[in-house]
Amino acid sequence: MISKSTIDQVYETARLEEVIGDFVQLKKAGSNYKGLSPFSEERSPSFMVSPVKQIWKDFSSGKGGNVVAFLMEHEHFTYPEAIKYLAKKYNIEIEETKKSNEEKEAQDRRESLYLVSEYANTYFKHILHKTDKGKAIGLSYFKERGFTDETIKKFDLGYCTEAWSGFTDEALKKGYKLEFLAETGLTIDKGDKQFDRFKGRVMFPIQSMSGRVLGFGGRILTNDKKAAKYLNSPESDIYHKSKVLYGIYHAKQSIAKEDNCYLVEGYTDVIQFHQTGVTNVVSSSGTALTSDQIRLINRLTKNITVLFDGDAAGMRASIRGIDLILEQGMNVKVCSFPEGEDPDSFAKTNTLEELKHYLNENAKDFIQFKASVLFEESQNDPIKKAETIRDIINSIAKIPDRIKREVYIQECSRIMDISEDVLFSTLAQLTQKEANDQAKQQQKPQQAFEVIKHQTPITKIDVQYVLERKIIEILLLYGNKTEDFEDLVLKENEKGVLILEPVIQQAKVFEKVFLDLQDDEMEFSNEQFKTLYYKIIETLNQNPDFSSEQFINNENQEISSEITNILMEDERYELSDWERKNIFPKSKKESIAQLVSETILSLRCHLIDKKVIGFQQKTIENKNEVNRSILEEVKDYSGLKMLLSRKLNRVL
Ligand code: CTP
Ligand code: MN
Repeated sequence: MISKSTIDQVYETARLEEVIGDFVQLKKAGSNYKGLSPFSEERSPSFMVSPVKQIWKDFSSGKGGNVVAFLMEHEHFTYPEAIKYLAKKYNIEIEETKKSNEEKEAQDRRESLYLVSEYANTYFKHILHKTDKGKAIGLSYFKERGFTDETIKKFDLGYCTEAWSGFTDEALKKGYKLEFLAETGLTIDKGDKQFDRFKGRVMFPIQSMSGRVLGFGGRILTNDKKAAKYLNSPESDIYHKSKVLYGIYHAKQSIAKEDNCYLVEGYTDVIQFHQTGVTNVVSSSGTALTSDQIRLINRLTKNITVLFDGDAAGMRASIRGIDLILEQGMNVKVCSFPEGEDPDSFAKTNTLEELKHYLNENAKDFIQFKASVLFEESQNDPIKKAETIRDIINSIAKIPDRIKREVYIQECSRIMDISEDVLFSTLAQLTQKEANDQAKQQQKPQQAFEVIKHQTPITKIDVQYVLERKIIEILLLYGNKTEDFEDLVLKENEKGVLILEPVIQQAKVFEKVFLDLQDDEMEFSNEQFKTLYYKIIETLNQNPDFSSEQFINNENQEISSEITNILMEDERYELSDWERKNIFPKSKKESIAQLVSETILSLRCHLIDKKVIGFQQKTIENKNEVNRSILEEVKDYSGLKMLLSRKLNRVL
């Protein structure tokens, strides 16, 4: 783990505008910077960076946060990766906290595997570009394939010579341990002799999402029928075939930006697409797509387009894996190429415009596509047709979204010429069966209920959440301000009747909030808000020069993004050039005291409502047994509620 002091130092040193400036062209706009959103295609800037607050907000996508959040969104780094990136940029030495010996060993081992792979990558590139054999054999092969120098460099392509152990010998001489060379599979260790696994092959390094070399694919250059055309690194502690996608490092940004990911078969398809200009493309490298790989894509986009060769066998193989993608709630399209062509050859012989046009014209919704293919196949065969219906409904049943499922049923009914009723009842049978299976498996009636609940989601505005968030907002924006609060106190008048009398009291906003909540013994129900609340109160109490920005550097990205939203709401107006248009949005600050009282009172009312509903529930459960004490309490609370409502009306 990176130490707390390193993280603090990174936050203190990093300048948000500098870090973002490396990726987005920023222009000064008042006290802020603005630019075109890097997360969507737009013509007028809605991306805002506040150097004072050290936060950013993208009003077109709703994303926002601190410097780390930007790197996580834009570069798809993990939290530690983002910290390391910043440490490197600002020359900060990373201090790691102590680890157990075992953890340390495992990490050291993995680090060694990474280092060996990185070295191999450098070595293969050197052979390709700097040696006679490399240039004559490897480089000329790539050139023949139509790869430009730029492409070859971009994908770090390399070559491993025919010599039996050229690479291994060099690596050992450089001090890399045989143990790690063997574990990465780069070297085949026969005890008394060692060989290069990739001897005589051109090399395609496989990179992680953040660009580290995990393994290799190597293509043979001879026509040896006995040897495999492509050879891949074996599984190791750093290379898990089912968890990586070839090309993801180079594609992640454009996948997010285009909001779509093309999935192709192999290395050469990915590279040729890039060279032609379509960069949102990855490959699962020969194997069927796994759920882990889909999850990688799912982080970047909900849309995936599977591309396959023009032959029927390829198409069938692809169709099978697609249910897995549907299961993760993604929208799937498929696109096939003309007979005899694959994505590689098609991209090579067409211009960018032609390729884009072809993809747009020929990508079909997967379910519709499957329905029409199956329909044609089974048109004159009733038995096959029944099978076909079940097959297509099986795919539809995988889709988590109920509305989408219904739309598909309607579509398929049209395509396959079968009544919707039949399709719906088949779907119902299938989902029922699935729910039953799941329930049986779990042996818990409660969880079977969960399944049903899951299918009909009820969305309700969570009033308490909204109010608690509002309190946090008030504290962050105005916590330190001193205001005149009008409080209504209960008093007895001359006639002995209780009345509410206004009293003006000066107080700091945070003190008022704290005391009011404490009076009523109100607790936050949202754990994150609760933690944040006490932290803010404590800080305000100790330090009058409180700056709300310090709370953004929270490791919890949810909290951090919530705070950003709160703090950047103000800045939004600057974007629309309000002043020039002579429209001044009503400033919240005019009536802070009002806002505070209103929010706290609303929260009180809400909590009372909840209590009363709770009592009612109890009364229903106990049916005939009218519980006097409960009735009394309901009456008390109703009285209190009326009093509060009167106060609230006064404030509003
Ligand atoms: N592929 C693979 N393993 C194989 C064959 C193919 O991983 N045994 C993958 C490769 O990633 C390759 C893609 O499938 O990029 C396309 O296969 P293919 O067209 O056979 O490879 P090419 O190198 O294009 O060979 P050719 O020049 O004969 O078309
Ligand atoms: Mn090919």
